[in-house]
Amino acid sequence: MTSVDYSARVGALVPFLSMEVMERGMQMARAGVDVRQLGVGEPGFPPPPEVVAAVAGAVAAGATHYTDSRGLYALREAIAADCRVRRGVDVGPERVLVTGGTSAALMMVCSLLLDPGDEVIVPAPHYPCYPNMVAVCGGRTVLVPTRAEDGYLVDPDRVRAAITPRTKGILLASPANPTGAVQPAEVVHALAELGVPILSDEIYDGLLYDGVTVTSPLGRTDECFVFDGFSKRYAMTGFRVGYLIAPERAMRGLVTLHQNLFISAPQPAQTLAMTALEHGDAHRQMMVEEFDVRRRLLLDGVRELGLGVPVTPTGAFYILADARCLGDDSLALAFALLERAHVALGPGRDFGEAAEGFLRFSFASSRGDIEVALERLAAVVAALSEWRR
Ligand SMILES: Cc1ncc(COP(=O)(O)O)c(C=O)c1O
Repeated sequence: MTSVDYSARVGALVPFLSMEVMERGMQMARAGVDVRQLGVGEPGFPPPPEVVAAVAGAVAAGATHYTDSRGLYALREAIAADCRVRRGVDVGPERVLVTGGTSAALMMVCSLLLDPGDEVIVPAPHYPCYPNMVAVCGGRTVLVPTRAEDGYLVDPDRVRAAITPRTKGILLASPANPTGAVQPAEVVHALAELGVPILSDEIYDGLLYDGVTVTSPLGRTDECFVFDGFSKRYAMTGFRVGYLIAPERAMRGLVTLHQNLFISAPQPAQTLAMTALEHGDAHRQMMVEEFDVRRRLLLDGVRELGLGVPVTPTGAFYILADARCLGDDSLALAFALLERAHVALGPGRDFGEAAEGFLRFSFASSRGDIEVALERLAAVVAALSEWRR
């Protein structure tokens, strides 16, 4: 048998490092080790009770098929109505496309926009998958660093300076993973006026603290793609359902892509997403209140470990902590902490060079997990600090 070379494009991708740590932790757990997972964005809650109660009924009622590639019409109507309430913008169901998670929506828009050599501007630190998605489509990510001293706010002038004739989009996450930063309206509006499509990842909207609100660029520019979903706001990661709100002229290409690549999002998940939109808000509010308690618990605990948290997150459920006192190689450090403390964390390098030396802690994990993790880390961190002295 002749073996062929696999594509250089895929060979050049970087693994999703937080998932690598999580998966090693799962492997250890299968071998009987009590591992506490604080490294991935997995809400430590079940979905809303109304969703849980509706699962068997949805399947029994026959919601087990392909759907219209764009998604169930009733779900798209519900998403459009939700958009009107949350963003004050009327989009209509014809601009909504339901996908297998927000990830699929991101991938499709990269495929739609990019020819080889085209560029996407991404503020850093960033969600690990963005540059890989751009690269799979032959594009190039142009990072625009943000600084802890500025609260990780994006500087529209620096973004403007990064625009070239090859720029096809600015990919903004607010609230952001991994910093928890929420961009103020002035920043979002200034970015929307730069004349480049805005790719607005709003998957963490609704998970907010200290009274902050999210501003969407939707309605500020005709060329705006909104990514959203049910994974975080409704603790439905495993259902794999998300959606995209796109400009009308983009829909033909996006639907063609979706028909060919995915056929449709899973029908049971779509049906349950409707239940989440209809009944899930009280559950979301309950989660936010509890996440806020966990945020404070984790912030205090991480600072007590001697790690700096330069910016208090006001959205999402992550704390990006400066761990350079323990070592400069965040991946080696995350694996060392997993092996020695049995605690899985996100290595900063996953989020770009700007976050190397940092660790990402998730306060989506349960209070019990956070408490146990902090206790174990205290012992190991003390030993590591001693050893480095
Ligand atoms: C910023 C951001 N966008 C997209 C996703 C993907 O979410 P989904 O589960 O909807 O594919 C994540 C998941 O962690 C995320 O943090």
